[in-house]
Amino acid sequence: MIVLGIETSCDETAASVIRVNDSDLNSGGEILSDVVLSQIEAHRPFGGIVPEVAARAHLESADLVVEQAMSEAGLRFDQLDAVAATGGPGLIGGVIVGVMTAKAIAVAHNLPFIAVNHLEGHALTARLTDNVAFPYLLLLVSGGHSQLLIVHGVGTYTRLGTTIDDAVGEAFDKSAKLLGLGYPGGPPLEAAAKLGDAKRFPLPRPLRGKPGCHFSFSGLKAAVKRTIDALPPGDLLPQDVCDMAASFQAAVADVMAERTRNALREFRTQCPDGTTLVVAGGVAANQALRAKLEKLVKAEGFILAAPPLKHCTDNGAMIAWAGIERLRLGQTDSLEFAPRPRWPL
Ligand code: KG4
Ligand code: ZN
Repeated sequence: MIVLGIETSCDETAASVIRVNDSDLNSGGEILSDVVLSQIEAHRPFGGIVPEVAARAHLESADLVVEQAMSEAGLRFDQLDAVAATGGPGLIGGVIVGVMTAKAIAVAHNLPFIAVNHLEGHALTARLTDNVAFPYLLLLVSGGHSQLLIVHGVGTYTRLGTTIDDAVGEAFDKSAKLLGLGYPGGPPLEAAAKLGDAKRFPLPRPLRGKPGCHFSFSGLKAAVKRTIDALPPGDLLPQDVCDMAASFQAAVADVMAERTRNALREFRTQCPDGTTLVVAGGVAANQALRAKLEKLVKAEGFILAAPPLKHCTDNGAMIAWAGIERLRLGQTDSLEFAPRPRWPL
């Protein structure tokens, strides 16, 4: 079974071809190609993603990225078993480009079309990269989402927690902006934090000690702003930036670990045979967060699975893989499918 996956919902134009050799529902796949074209340079001058710029960039490069993925895989379109594309949630202009590209290939070569929920792509990636079996607990942390979900099977999810305001990646990006660290903020903030003192600025731990698994980050971001504003006027000193980055990152890691601990306990009650916490999404690239989660799972008697960094951030392989998971269950979509800017799992 060979599937092409196309991802265009945010600021990466990506395509990938994946093959699975048997019908074992728990076997991983072979990534034949995995092309990711980042638009970051186009958005950097604006300090964030501009939807119109993103849509235009996807339109300009989707064909080329798909062509490259097919040629690296050494395949023609008629050798595929299906074409999958992110059908949402995401920026509507980009999603339309990916969905139309996939539908055109499907029509031209008489292939099934599969509309993949972007979150499901993130949710299922650990089964491709780490062969994780159902059920597992997923901590999905990206620029647009912060969620704790029990993944019972393909298409069967129980949401235990979500953010009541900002997504965690958004909090990283906005705090990094306040610190003059550029966009996207996660990687430079993490680098600055390595040189900083996490104890210098006491920042809040929103929702700490409260039952449940929801997140909140807007108060933390506001505290970063207040603390910066209270420093002596003038440019932030490099050490101030590093100390603030370290203090912010420690607060986020504390909050994530505590909310995830509550979710692991709920997961154990609902699924006594579950063993694994999977962490996915761009923020899962953060080493300090990963280290904290490693400690947590050990203390709670679980194991941690984290896809390699390049499969934590947006990519085409996660969409091709989710397509394979759906195709194996005989689930395909009609060409009437309409892109969904909002599409909760
Ligand atoms: O999953 P992703 O590539 O895109 C979606 O939002 O769907 O996640 C991007 C987010 C951005 O907010 C970025 O700042 C954050 O992930 N990020 C990080 C790190 N690398 C990327 N946040 C913290 N530490 C990192 N090392
Ligand atoms: Zn994503």
